Amino acid sequence: MTGVTERTRTIAAREGAGVIQVQAELVATRPVGAYQHLTFVAPGIADLARPGQFIAVAIGDATSSKLLRRAFSIHQVTPAGTYGDTVEVVVSAAGAGTQWLTAQPAGTSIDLIGPLGKPFPLPTSPVPCVLVGGGYGSAPLFWLAQALRERGCPVEIVLGAATHARLFGAALARTAADGVTITTDDGSAGVKGWVSDVLPEVFERSSAAVVYGCGPMGMLRSISELAAARGIVAQVAVEEAMACGVGVCMTCVMPIADDDGVTSMVRSCLSGPVFRGDRVRWDAWTDGICHVPDDALGSPGWAGSDPLPEGES
Ligand SMILES: Cc1cc2nc3c(=O)[nH]c(=O)nc-3n(C[C@H](O)[C@H](O)[C@H](O)COP(=O)(O)OP(=O)(O)OC[C@H]3O[C@@H](n4cnc5c(N)ncnc54)[C@H](O)[C@@H]3O)c2cc1C
Ligand code: FES
Repeated sequence: MTGVTERTRTIAAREGAGVIQVQAELVATRPVGAYQHLTFVAPGIADLARPGQFIAVAIGDATSSKLLRRAFSIHQVTPAGTYGDTVEVVVSAAGAGTQWLTAQPAGTSIDLIGPLGKPFPLPTSPVPCVLVGGGYGSAPLFWLAQALRERGCPVEIVLGAATHARLFGAALARTAADGVTITTDDGSAGVKGWVSDVLPEVFERSSAAVVYGCGPMGMLRSISELAAARGIVAQVAVEEAMACGVGVCMTCVMPIADDDGVTSMVRSCLSGPVFRGDRVRWDAWTDGICHVPDDALGSPGWAGSDPLPEGES
């Protein structure tokens, strides 16, 4: 591990902020179905991270034209120890950045920032929980399942994907949960259909009190609506496009209602990516694009009082 300690160094740590930037070594990279599973030695991040948080990965070297970092949910961490201090992610090679990342050989040094965002809140009592993942969105759920079971919560996992190859973690789920249900759109594994087809029965059978979701927005919306109709709390990790990942650029804003029902546009990289499903204004998305609702705080249709103190504009 000498090479690891030489090549892996902490560049900066904002004391108290709980976020670290490291030059991490990619120590393992392997294909898993349609995805690539990457393991980094990333000192400090493993100890700070909680299920639901993400890392922002720099793409290319110092002269890269790809200026924006790419966000990935943390799949698993191994805290400091002889072979520890590792952070794992599961990457789908979508565009140029993820294609570059998934092609990197073990031994490559890559700049990471993390852990970012708010983690999944855990129940304070041992209530039954259902965890629902779509495609690579299931990556953070196994680590979450472990944390829930350590609290005595019975855990059911539901995994869905378009095809068998796009499922992630079916085998892992069997060890991480008390019950597992699989769906695929084409029927190549498990039940043919969507997770929303099986969720009512899973909710009923498990007497679920909380449902956690991570995956495409349409899936998160149906989880939230099915849960709300049964008085189940939904906590969903959203995947709104993030350009900076650290609260600076505002590209990730989305409409969230507060306790009084007032909708504000909030940065999902800072206030999320985990939100209560019944607080997300799902009606704001059309064809995958998020629009500012007319009644959102500060928008042209906002009927409330001016949110800014007198004299400010
Ligand atoms: C919290 C979170 C967790 C995620 N977890 C995972 C995961 O575990 N596994 C996985 O495979 N993917 C994950 N993703 C998706 C992943 O970040 C994207 O697939 C990836 O950024 C695509 O990069 P690319 O270079 O392949 O695509 P490209 O399309 O080449 O580039 C995408 C880049 O453009 C930026 N961008 C896109 N739309 C906009 C916009 N409207 N405004 C400004 N910038 C924009 C993006 O931020 C990104 O930097 C996650 C995303 C988020 C937000
Ligand atoms: S991604 Fe830049 S503010 Fe959230």
